[in-house]
Amino acid sequence: MAFLTWQDRYSVGIGQIDDQHKQLINMINELNDAMLTGKGKNVLMTVLNKLAEYCVSHFAVEEKLFDVHVYPETADHKEKHHKMTTKVKALIGEVQSGKSTISIEVMNFLKNWLDKHIMETDKKYGPYLNSKGVK
Ligand SMILES: [Fe+2]
Ligand SMILES: [Fe+2]
Repeated sequence: MAFLTWQDRYSVGIGQIDDQHKQLINMINELNDAMLTGKGKNVLMTVLNKLAEYCVSHFAVEEKLFDVHVYPETADHKEKHHKMTTKVKALIGEVQSGKSTISIEVMNFLKNWLDKHIMETDKKYGPYLNSKGVK
């Protein structure tokens, strides 16, 4: 069974965004598999960097939609993205330097963050953007 599985309750009602969230879930699973199968630091770093880059580009897509459609909760949402980006960058630095490694705790942090962010923060923009014609 996958570490994190897409569920219909995650849908924000925008196809492009749901696809990106599915991709993020795939990448978290890929990182978890790499950890569980004891892959070395280089492989873990490659997967972690790929996840971080995808995360940043996904956040940018959401934020562009907020700006274009004048989403009222833009500032708060961008702040949450910014905090997560900072955390992931710090994690990359720690894993790279050997100060930290990809552990079950790290994986649970990533999983719980994505679950909570989609359910409590991303889902809020769904109806608003839908009303602006974004589907
Ligand atoms: Fe998102
Ligand atoms: Fe978001």
